[in-house]
Amino acid sequence: MDSERLRKLVRPEVQALEPYVAGKVPPLCHGKTLKLASNENLAIDNQDVNRYLRKVLHHSLVYYPDAHHTKLKKALSTFLKESGFEVSSEHIVFGDGSGESLQIIMMACLSPGERVIIPENSFSLYKTRALLAGAKVVEVPRKDFWVDLAALEEVVCQSKAKLVVFANPDNPTSTTYSLAAIEGFLSRLPQDTLVLLDEAYIHFAEWKESALSLLSRYPNLIVMHTLSKAFGLAALRVGYTISHPEMAVQMEKIRLPFNLGLLPQEGAWYRLTHPSPVWKSVSVIQKEREKLFTFLHQEGLSPLPAGGNFVFCDFGEAYQQLIKGLESHGITVRSLGSFGFHPRFVRITVGSSQDMAYFRQVFLSVRREVRR
Ligand SMILES: Cc1ncc(COP(=O)(O)O)c(C=O)c1O
Repeated sequence: MDSERLRKLVRPEVQALEPYVAGKVPPLCHGKTLKLASNENLAIDNQDVNRYLRKVLHHSLVYYPDAHHTKLKKALSTFLKESGFEVSSEHIVFGDGSGESLQIIMMACLSPGERVIIPENSFSLYKTRALLAGAKVVEVPRKDFWVDLAALEEVVCQSKAKLVVFANPDNPTSTTYSLAAIEGFLSRLPQDTLVLLDEAYIHFAEWKESALSLLSRYPNLIVMHTLSKAFGLAALRVGYTISHPEMAVQMEKIRLPFNLGLLPQEGAWYRLTHPSPVWKSVSVIQKEREKLFTFLHQEGLSPLPAGGNFVFCDFGEAYQQLIKGLESHGITVRSLGSFGFHPRFVRITVGSSQDMAYFRQVFLSVRREVRR
């Protein structure tokens, strides 16, 4: 059978999808590489998790892991309570990364033809997972790069949307709304429109400003977090949603029973019960983010104010030479063509102090070369 005939056996929604574009892994260069393209936490010391997982590996791998994530849910609930958020196990659903959490919500809530509203140029999974569920996606233009909450509200109300999805802090712009602005938005929406608020990067902004505090007042709100960013466990693939318990019951029905393996469950449990490296690294990243912002400004560029562990910046006309120059020194940043922006717009992950000193040094020398 030729590939054309095979392709036609696949659902049309899938045929029409664009493949996911991941952050570039840097080429090996004099042994030094620095990936500033996928917003992982490069400043965390995770050796305690590695040591703990080595011990876990002494146990038998014969048995299935806990299908109910009991110990992990309890640890998360305690962690959140210690942060001031009243969340119990019945509100929590774990996913194989928050990418899977997103997919579970879409599969659980969307019927073909229903409308999903997202900001234009957002994290690509919002669109692809909604299309996969057969939904109609309406993309709302941004305002000066920011997610336009007023425009989202208007489109939601006009189109009788089932679901609106956006990130705060936003990816890729790192722009961040206050809790008051998020609450204002929620208060003006119809109660039967679901709001999925992706707070993948909230720990780098103001953790106390998480919309988790709004859940009891807005049953249509679902908050999504991940352990891939501030918690430094992207390789383990653990994300979760916090929602009304009824929504959690429905979501639990469709997630795969063993979506989190033993190592993801144990690694996440360890980090949630020993979180001090998270806050230590967040404070380093916040300082380095400020430094990077000032540095880019001094270089005559215009970075946006950032709440996430990354900075959005226009590299200008010479963007290709700058990006290539950085790559030749082993540094990859994310050019945002695949998000729908002009590729001169770039997202730079903020790493450790050492990483950022190296970035600034290389950036200056590449820029000098480009100007010659
Ligand atoms: C805004 C946002 N949401 C969700 C994710 C997915 O994270 P993960 O699937 O690793 O939990 C990412 C990853 O880059 C992201 O940027």
